Amino acid sequence: MSFTGEHILSVHQFDRDSIQQIFQIARNMAPYASRQKRTKVLEGAILGNLFFEPSTRTRVSFGCAFNLLGGEVRETTGMESSALAKGESLFDTARVISSYSDVIAMRHPQAGSVAEFALGSRVPVINGGDGANEHPTQALLDLFTIERELAASGLTVDGMHIAMVGDLKHGRTVHSLSKLLCLFKNIRFTLIAPHALAMPDEITGAIETAGHQVTITDTLEGNLSADIVYQTRIQEERFSSKEEANLYRGKFRLNQQIYTRYCKSNTVIMHPLPRDSRSDANELDNDLNLNPNLAIFRQADNGVLVRMALFALTLGVADKVKDYECAVPWFSNKNA
Ligand code: NCD
Repeated sequence: MSFTGEHILSVHQFDRDSIQQIFQIARNMAPYASRQKRTKVLEGAILGNLFFEPSTRTRVSFGCAFNLLGGEVRETTGMESSALAKGESLFDTARVISSYSDVIAMRHPQAGSVAEFALGSRVPVINGGDGANEHPTQALLDLFTIERELAASGLTVDGMHIAMVGDLKHGRTVHSLSKLLCLFKNIRFTLIAPHALAMPDEITGAIETAGHQVTITDTLEGNLSADIVYQTRIQEERFSSKEEANLYRGKFRLNQQIYTRYCKSNTVIMHPLPRDSRSDANELDNDLNLNPNLAIFRQADNGVLVRMALFALTLGVADKVKDYECAVPWFSNKNA
């Protein structure tokens, strides 16, 4: 599949072959991300990195991915400091910023906003999260991580058991990942959430239609013997009040003691981050930091590789990255 000039708005755009195409290119990006080599393939290109909702990881990882390919990044953060606060339409913003950029990454609190923005853009737009709707690049990096982590135990995505935990109603990462997993076979889903924060019926229905097995529960204990446990944060910003979000904060805490008691010895722990480490939440305890199956930082590192691959593909340079290679003259011990 050719991605050149295409927007990346939803996981529905992918099939298994195109996912493997992206992952192969992502794997080839490792020497550049780890600073063994550089490439200038996107020298002169500009990324418009528009984040109208809080973000550290996704925003910086889009920016770094573009820099690592030799390109420059122009960034806007927050709604208040943008012309959207003056009533400008998404179409107008897109029209203008796309004249200044070669590709745009965008996050916005409203579901459907990034697709609306893309209608006004003359360059490819990559969805960095639109409200509770979708987060396609996170789903790709999650799947990339799941494949890698499971391969270490001789397992595959087909036939795996994944437990998703927390705010499954508002979490766009679990929405996009679940939709992507519909392309695979014979997966067991254990969906662990308070009743009020359950996975939307539309997504549970799609998982079942894909032939997967779904167990829905509101109890953590006894339901964690999965190959992957994907923990999430209570999406406080999507509730009508902080008090309402507080009703669910700290309900599902995973720590080493619970892991030892209920998980398998090789259960992989994932989280899109940020994990809420405040004492009243503490959804993934710091005492898991020494657990070799805690994959959260490998997951974040993989995000750069996957986003580099997406930039190379949408800008049509995936097969030219090596041609623009050069040496790294500065000290680097990233591989140590
Ligand atoms: C997630 C998001 O923004 O949807 N974070 C991320 O992109 N890595 C999850 C979250 O904020 O809880």
